[in-house]
Amino acid sequence: MATDPSLPESDLPVGAVARAGEWTVVNRAGELRAVSSRCRHQLADLSKGALDRDGCLVCPWHGARYDLDSGEMVEGPQGFLAYVGRTPGYTQLVKGYARVLRLRRRAVERVGRRIVVGGAPEPR
Ligand code: FES
Repeated sequence: MATDPSLPESDLPVGAVARAGEWTVVNRAGELRAVSSRCRHQLADLSKGALDRDGCLVCPWHGARYDLDSGEMVEGPQGFLAYVGRTPGYTQLVKGYARVLRLRRRAVERVGRRIVVGGAPEPR
Protein backbone atom coordinates (compact mmCIF):
# COMPACT_ATOMS: atom_id res chain seq x y z
CA MET A 1 0.00 0.00 0.00
CA ALA A 2 1.40 3.39 -1.01
CA THR A 3 1.68 6.03 1.67
CA ASP A 4 1.05 9.74 1.23
CA PRO A 5 4.15 11.31 -0.36
CA SER A 6 3.58 14.67 1.31
CA LEU A 7 3.93 16.40 4.65
CA PRO A 8 3.03 19.75 6.21
CA GLU A 9 5.52 22.50 5.36
CA SER A 10 5.86 23.19 9.10
CA ASP A 11 7.41 19.71 9.54
CA LEU A 12 10.36 20.62 7.33
CA PRO A 13 12.08 23.82 8.47
CA VAL A 14 15.44 24.83 6.98
CA GLY A 15 18.05 22.16 7.72
CA ALA A 16 15.49 19.46 8.51
CA VAL A 17 15.20 15.90 7.18
CA ALA A 18 11.82 14.13 7.23
CA ARG A 19 9.76 11.36 5.67
CA ALA A 20 7.05 11.80 3.02
CA GLY A 21 5.65 8.42 2.08
CA GLU A 22 8.53 6.28 0.84
CA TRP A 23 10.73 9.36 0.29
CA THR A 24 13.21 11.23 2.42
CA VAL A 25 12.81 14.97 1.98
CA VAL A 26 15.34 17.61 2.91
CA ASN A 27 15.16 21.37 3.25
CA ARG A 28 18.63 22.54 2.30
CA ALA A 29 18.68 26.29 2.87
CA GLY A 30 15.18 26.60 1.42
CA GLU A 31 15.84 24.21 -1.52
CA LEU A 32 13.80 21.01 -1.31
CA ARG A 33 15.20 17.63 -2.30
CA ALA A 34 13.64 14.17 -2.25
CA VAL A 35 15.60 10.91 -2.39
CA SER A 36 14.86 7.25 -1.73
CA SER A 37 14.96 6.39 1.96
CA ARG A 38 17.15 3.28 2.17
CA CYS A 39 20.88 3.70 2.61
CA ARG A 40 22.84 1.81 -0.07
CA HIS A 41 25.03 0.32 2.64
CA GLN A 42 22.78 -1.58 5.07
CA LEU A 43 19.38 -0.05 4.36
CA ALA A 44 19.15 2.37 7.28
CA ASP A 45 16.25 4.80 7.11
CA LEU A 46 17.79 7.98 5.71
CA SER A 47 14.84 10.07 6.89
CA LYS A 48 16.38 9.62 10.37
CA GLY A 49 19.63 11.10 9.07
CA ALA A 50 20.91 14.66 9.13
CA LEU A 51 22.12 17.38 6.82
CA ASP A 52 25.78 18.31 7.21
CA ARG A 53 27.59 21.62 6.62
CA ASP A 54 28.26 20.73 3.00
CA GLY A 55 24.57 20.09 2.32
CA CYS A 56 25.02 16.32 2.17
CA LEU A 57 22.60 13.83 3.72
CA VAL A 58 24.34 11.74 6.39
CA CYS A 59 23.15 8.20 7.20
CA PRO A 60 22.21 7.73 10.87
CA TRP A 61 23.94 4.33 11.20
CA HIS A 62 27.50 4.54 9.85
CA GLY A 63 27.70 8.07 8.51
CA ALA A 64 27.76 7.48 4.75
CA ARG A 65 27.25 10.85 3.04
CA TYR A 66 25.09 11.48 -0.04
CA ASP A 67 25.04 14.29 -2.59
CA LEU A 68 21.37 15.28 -2.82
CA ASP A 69 21.72 16.60 -6.37
CA SER A 70 23.00 13.33 -7.83
CA GLY A 71 22.06 10.69 -5.25
CA GLU A 72 25.69 9.58 -5.20
CA MET A 73 27.39 8.37 -2.03
CA VAL A 74 30.28 10.82 -1.71
CA GLU A 75 31.75 9.29 1.46
CA GLY A 76 31.46 5.63 2.39
CA PRO A 77 30.29 4.16 5.70
CA GLN A 78 32.45 4.20 8.81
CA GLY A 79 31.66 0.74 10.14
CA PHE A 80 29.22 -2.11 9.57
CA LEU A 81 26.46 -3.83 11.56
CA ALA A 82 26.84 -2.64 15.19
CA TYR A 83 30.47 -1.52 14.74
CA VAL A 84 31.07 2.17 14.15
CA GLY A 85 34.64 3.16 13.39
CA ARG A 86 37.31 3.21 10.71
CA THR A 87 37.09 0.53 8.02
CA PRO A 88 39.18 2.01 5.16
CA GLY A 89 39.15 -0.86 2.62
CA TYR A 90 35.55 -1.77 3.28
CA THR A 91 34.50 1.90 3.11
CA GLN A 92 36.01 2.22 -0.39
CA LEU A 93 34.38 -1.04 -1.53
CA VAL A 94 30.91 0.15 -0.50
CA LYS A 95 31.49 3.56 -2.02
CA GLY A 96 32.44 1.82 -5.27
CA TYR A 97 29.19 -0.11 -5.67
CA ALA A 98 27.13 2.83 -4.39
CA ARG A 99 28.52 4.83 -7.32
CA VAL A 100 26.39 2.60 -9.52
CA LEU A 101 23.46 2.22 -7.09
CA ARG A 102 22.71 5.88 -6.45
CA LEU A 103 19.76 7.01 -4.39
CA ARG A 104 16.70 7.60 -6.55
CA ARG A 105 15.55 11.22 -6.74
CA ARG A 106 12.15 12.79 -7.32
CA ALA A 107 10.85 16.27 -7.95
CA VAL A 108 9.45 17.93 -4.82
CA GLU A 109 7.46 21.15 -4.52
CA ARG A 110 5.39 23.29 -2.19
CA VAL A 111 1.65 23.01 -2.81
CA GLY A 112 -0.18 25.39 -0.53
CA ARG A 113 1.15 24.60 2.94
CA ARG A 114 2.26 21.09 2.04
CA ILE A 115 5.43 19.67 0.58
CA VAL A 116 4.64 17.12 -2.10
CA VAL A 117 6.97 14.62 -3.75
CA GLY A 118 6.12 14.32 -7.45
CA GLY A 119 6.04 11.33 -9.75
CA ALA A 120 8.76 11.93 -12.30
CA PRO A 121 12.33 10.87 -11.60
CA GLU A 122 14.84 13.71 -11.54
CA PRO A 123 17.33 13.51 -14.43
CA ARG A 124 20.89 12.50 -13.54
S1 FES B 1 23.51 1.79 6.79
FE1 FES B 1 24.00 3.75 6.05
S2 FES B 1 26.09 3.93 6.35
FE2 FES B 1 25.62 1.95 7.08
